[in-house]
Amino acid sequence: SNKRRPIIIANWKLNGTTAFVSDLLDGITEQWFGVHQAEVVVCPAFIHLAQAVNEHLAHSNVALGAQDCSQFEEGAYTGDVSAEMLHDIGCQYVIVGHSERRRFYSESDAQVAKKFDLVHQSMMTPILCVGETQEQREAGKTLDVIKRQVGAALDYCGVEKLARSVVAYEPLWAVGTGVTATPDQAQEVHAFIRELLGPVGQAVRIVYGGSVKANNAETLFAEPDIDGALVGGAALKADDFIEICKAAE
Ligand code: G3P
Repeated sequence: SNKRRPIIIANWKLNGTTAFVSDLLDGITEQWFGVHQAEVVVCPAFIHLAQAVNEHLAHSNVALGAQDCSQFEEGAYTGDVSAEMLHDIGCQYVIVGHSERRRFYSESDAQVAKKFDLVHQSMMTPILCVGETQEQREAGKTLDVIKRQVGAALDYCGVEKLARSVVAYEPLWAVGTGVTATPDQAQEVHAFIRELLGPVGQAVRIVYGGSVKANNAETLFAEPDIDGALVGGAALKADDFIEICKAAE
């Protein structure tokens, strides 16, 4: 019973063909229409964004997001896709700083902060991902890591921009492992993030990610500071994903 609108975000990662995307979006939009308390966002691969808008999302209440964007505005950056291009094609959200980007592409906090800022400049909402590794948790460094990662965006962009963002807490040991953080573990970090944001913290939506499934979503969402989820594997099937969305209402 807080005033924050729940939000469920599907991160499809490196998955899908045009046919798969068509089927999945049909399944989602057929089951998610009309007025809902929860907001639903899907994040396909770049190459499928235009298809998603044109064939499925233009007249639905499912919003579109991208999984990443360039740290540069425009110019000689081969292979990149800018925040402005994403806005132009119909995205409202962009995930920045996902642990897979940090890990496989060595993205730094500074690069993530630049992306975070560019998403705002292009009138979209960034979904800032933060989270500790197993080793960091075992060493008792979880909150230090979270503070550093949130702090990088805070220092670079200011608290006003954080206030108009979504933060996703994704502990690395829970991403794609089938090991979900317990509601208590997630709640502790969510409350800490809210505290880091000071007075604006109450308005910011903080979602949990890491092996969220239809059968564990509800207990996570029952926590006072968990405002929704960032879903990977379970978002690749319409029925599973919609069940998670319904659990947020
Ligand atoms: O961004 C969502 C993600 O990293 C969690 O993936 O497959 O554990 O739900 P999964």
